[in-house]
Amino acid sequence: MIRGQLTLGTVIAFMTLLTYLYGPTQNMITTRLNLERAKVAAERVLELLDEEPEEDRGVSLSAPAGRVEVRDLSFAYPNGKAALRHVALRVEPGEWVALVGHTGSGKSTLLSLLVWLFPIPEVRIWIDGQDVAQLSLSSLRREVLLVTQDVFLFSGTVLQNIRLARAGGTDEEAMAVAQALGADGFIRGLPDGYKTLVGERGAKLSGGQRQLIALARAVLRRPKVLLLDEATSALDSESEARVLQSLRALLPTTTVILAAHRLSTVRAAGRTVVLKDGRVVQEGRHEELLVAPGEYREVLAEQLVGGKEG
Ligand SMILES: Nc1ncnc2c1ncn2[C@@H]1O[C@H](COP(=O)(O)OP(=O)(O)OP(=O)(O)O)[C@@H](O)[C@H]1O
Ligand SMILES: [Mg+2]
Repeated sequence: MIRGQLTLGTVIAFMTLLTYLYGPTQNMITTRLNLERAKVAAERVLELLDEEPEEDRGVSLSAPAGRVEVRDLSFAYPNGKAALRHVALRVEPGEWVALVGHTGSGKSTLLSLLVWLFPIPEVRIWIDGQDVAQLSLSSLRREVLLVTQDVFLFSGTVLQNIRLARAGGTDEEAMAVAQALGADGFIRGLPDGYKTLVGERGAKLSGGQRQLIALARAVLRRPKVLLLDEATSALDSESEARVLQSLRALLPTTTVILAAHRLSTVRAAGRTVVLKDGRVVQEGRHEELLVAPGEYREVLAEQLVGGKEG
């Protein structure tokens, strides 16, 4: 322009036109990013679609009493790691049994085998005298329910998440259960109460709040056997005590097997089974085990008492 080769108008026009270029360039870059993301997501979806569905053949449990029996159960993970060795366990209908043991002793493994998360080749587990391998998965999982420490919530409302346990249930039922478990207070305190969206995987709730929702869901389902794998671990002791008490009242005939590290949880059960390196090493009532030297006292000293409750 200084040399007189361009007019001021041309420069201004050029500058103005240049700004039109920014938008599309930006778009081209984000489109490419989005395409990459979509590709990864699509791969995951296809992977899932390619999964072979679990076969749902076999006998259906009708009106089970909830007796659980495990005989000489040994189990190793696919990587060869032995997690259970010759475990025997018998739990009567309506009985509460606690599983105790150091980290890695096999508690979660035992519970997951009871709901057939991993197939075992031999006949070792019976529900009401029925070999678990012969049961249809839908029937087994209707009667035997595993609640783990990490709760999966779907993005939706609190109420939807509780109610999904049972088709045909009512809002009132779900709310009554939440109330009995002591979850009502926090739920009503949420911005939209029971209609509050919990976010992706329940991200907007605390760990303890998610556990309360999972437990309400479990109660609504009315299983004959309830397996709690540290399912109350994120609750404070007071809330936990209330939950366990309510569970007993709401599910009076349900058999409960709970894996726990906390003394207060263990004491809720009538009988305790102590695992060590995949073996049952002790069994009995809390008071009996407390006076006998052995693994229970060791675990208790290190984990259950944990400083606070001691
Ligand atoms: N998916 C897996 N693949 C391979 N090994 C596993 C798997 N899950 C657990 N194990 C191993 O099996 C053993 C028992 O683990 P398990 O999870 O049953 O212990 P746990 O008693 O539940 O422990 P925690 O108290 O920490 O929950 C451990 O040695 C562990 O390393
Ligand atoms: Mg575990």
